[in-house]
Amino acid sequence: MNTPRVPRVAIIGCGSYGAEHARFLSTCPGVKLHAVADIAPERAQDFAARYGAGYATADVAKIWADPDIDAVWICTQHDTHAPLAEAAAAAGKNFFLEKPLALTLADCDRIVAAVERSGVIAASGFKLRFFPAVVAAKQFLTKPTLTIAQVIDDHWPSDFWANDPVKGGGNVLSQGCHMVDTVLHLHPTPPVKVYAAGGNRHHPTRDIVDTASITLTFADGAVATVAVGDCGVPPHSSKFALQQSDGVRSFSLYNRLNSIMTREDKQVTEHPAWPEKGADVIDAPFIAAVAAGGPSPVTVQSARRTSAVVLAAVESIKTGRAIDLTSAPYAAAMQG
Ligand SMILES: NC(=O)c1ccc[n+]([C@@H]2O[C@H](COP(=O)([O-])OP(=O)(O)OC[C@H]3O[C@@H](n4cnc5c(N)ncnc54)[C@H](O)[C@@H]3O)[C@@H](O)[C@H]2O)c1
Repeated sequence: MNTPRVPRVAIIGCGSYGAEHARFLSTCPGVKLHAVADIAPERAQDFAARYGAGYATADVAKIWADPDIDAVWICTQHDTHAPLAEAAAAAGKNFFLEKPLALTLADCDRIVAAVERSGVIAASGFKLRFFPAVVAAKQFLTKPTLTIAQVIDDHWPSDFWANDPVKGGGNVLSQGCHMVDTVLHLHPTPPVKVYAAGGNRHHPTRDIVDTASITLTFADGAVATVAVGDCGVPPHSSKFALQQSDGVRSFSLYNRLNSIMTREDKQVTEHPAWPEKGADVIDAPFIAAVAAGGPSPVTVQSARRTSAVVLAAVESIKTGRAIDLTSAPYAAAMQG
């Protein structure tokens, strides 16, 4: 009998979130961190030494050409996501791509097309879907009618790359996507309309949207409001929070989505908190999918839908109009 092969993986982008994945991938039994790559050679070397990778390179082409690599983690700035994902797919490498999928619909389409063409297994980094309290929430309430959610961070420095309009897109595109994705995940029907107010409140030197109040309508008539900004973490509800009701039952997710309180028949139950999850919460199902030959735990199609909704929210902020998600250019992405 053949022994199953240990998946050999590589990380491209040896920065702060690459390190979060490296901590898990370098210690996960049944996985070999085979290679790391970064355009900054010293960062790649340091990473390889710190996490025991087989080799380090500043030449990403070496990763694509290496027949021993089964899956690649792409943990780079957002404007590089589409070209790196296309190169991974062309090389036949399964890939995990950090969120957001990309900063334009055209780049999202490029990634989805490359995955569909090549048949590789590809996932996007929407880890909040896998937080145990979020899993419990989805089971507790299957047909929500009203959602209120937030991702409100402390102030980001204006010169932070994520505030660069090309590399990062600003707080709403870069981080707001996390909570929009969670809201879409917790609603059973697709969104059909988005209206948003907001703008640039804190970074006058940057052409970005950093603050948004986003209202979504779903195909079943449910509605959701998502507040996003880097304007100061709310001390009680925390950076990530979400509450939902269906007319009979309700819940509050708080403590960075690690705690849930449920209410039914006017009885409130506060459940024990889960410890904060790291990248392992999404890396483990992706590794399992690669080993099993699929399916992806977070499809690129679903990540494109999330990006499309956030991009439509930004368009709404800029134009002052509600955006119909069932029409071009957004409709095709809503199937995710
Ligand atoms: N899921 C989460 O909770 C979470 C949290 C933080 C960041 N992220 C995401 O992780 C990604 C990386 O963010 P970060 O904070 O680690 O950034 P970072 O700046 O700390 O690291 C990015 C690294 O990528 C390298 N790089 C850039 N272009 C490259 C290329 N073409 N080839 C090889 N290397 C390249 C840079 O040199 C840098 O070392 C982003 O998509 C970000 O949104 C996700």
